[in-house]
Amino acid sequence: MKNILVTGGAGFIGANFVKYLLRKQRDILVVNYDALTYAGNLESLSDLLEEKRHIFIHGDIRDQSKIEKTLVENQIEGVINFAAESHVDRSIDNPGEFIQTNVVGTLNLLATARKLGIKRFLQISTDEVYGSLSSEEAAFTEDTQIRPNSPYSASKASADHLVRAYHHTFGMDTLITRCSNNYGPLQFPEKMIPLCINNAFCGKKIPVYGDGMQIRDWLYVEDHCEAIWKVFLKGKSGEVYNIGGDNQMTNIDLVRTILKTCGRDDSLISFVKDRPGHDRRYAINFSKIKKELDWKPKHDFASGIVSTVKWYSENREWLDHLTSGEYKSYYEKMYSGR
Ligand code: NAD
Ligand code: TYD
Repeated sequence: MKNILVTGGAGFIGANFVKYLLRKQRDILVVNYDALTYAGNLESLSDLLEEKRHIFIHGDIRDQSKIEKTLVENQIEGVINFAAESHVDRSIDNPGEFIQTNVVGTLNLLATARKLGIKRFLQISTDEVYGSLSSEEAAFTEDTQIRPNSPYSASKASADHLVRAYHHTFGMDTLITRCSNNYGPLQFPEKMIPLCINNAFCGKKIPVYGDGMQIRDWLYVEDHCEAIWKVFLKGKSGEVYNIGGDNQMTNIDLVRTILKTCGRDDSLISFVKDRPGHDRRYAINFSKIKKELDWKPKHDFASGIVSTVKWYSENREWLDHLTSGEYKSYYEKMYSGR
């Protein structure tokens, strides 16, 4: 397939994916469709200004006529849907936005793609749909029952059900990937790792929720991009593929590692009130994609976090741009009273 629609390609993973794809595939047209919410940033794509194989379209995935026009005019053959509201804390504050984009928007994309006979539809989902694990429980497999706990994960789980239903009911060629937490360049600094790096640079306190003993499995974003493209090219229609980093860490260990990498000490750590309904542990069993598609992560955390800190230190303007304005007032609101 030559002409691909990527939605949400001005966000963190989407922008990394667009660049990965353009590096990887010579013969491709990437149409990047993004609503440019607070999380979308055209500056993340500034190095693609002269790239003829990349077209940016400013639009909302809920806008049926714009999606249809985009698919038709660019002779799109495949859709990869990254567009989403993606931050758990915001979903606790304002769940409605998440239902609108993540559920209604995905349904609109599916229906339009079906109407136009799009060959393949890949939904980018998350391990958070499986819910939370205790320290003894085995990692999530693709057969683990879905038990979303936050409005964010509930909206992503709903979208996954729709994607599955479009395959089952209409025979559409759909796939779902469920990945663990990503880190790397271009991530909006409300998420734990860039927030921690940014605060460390500025000598600001790092808010650690609750006891900091929650566990996440961190994957370098480029490894995620590679897995997505493998699934899109070779995955079995109708299937779900888990993607993980094989790198479980407590939040407090993560923060200590980042502080050390930034040349700061632990005095910046500040334990704050926990997130309501905070999932304790995520862990991903990704043996299916390993076995079927020969994928495994290439970056280990030790080197990935060093290059991530380096990228943010070399791109302070990018960070400063994002940490002013809307984000600044959001941050002040989130952490006052915590
Ligand atoms: P992000 O918040 O950085 O980017 C989301 C992008 O979607 C932004 O560019 C935003 O402008 C765009 N967008 C939002 N609403 C839109 C709408 N209605 N129409 C069109 N565009 C819209 O998110 P991310 O971290 O890059 O995540 C991308 C996808 O990967 C999401 O679907 C998320 O659920 C999933 N995911 C993320 C992680 C992670 O660790 N970040 C892990 C697993 C899965
Ligand atoms: P986050 O990056 O928001 O991803 P998710 O909630 O989707 O896993 O958070 C990662 C972990 O870090 C999560 O357990 C919540 C915690 N966290 C903090 O302790 N402090 C913070 O300021 C943030 C944003 C997150």
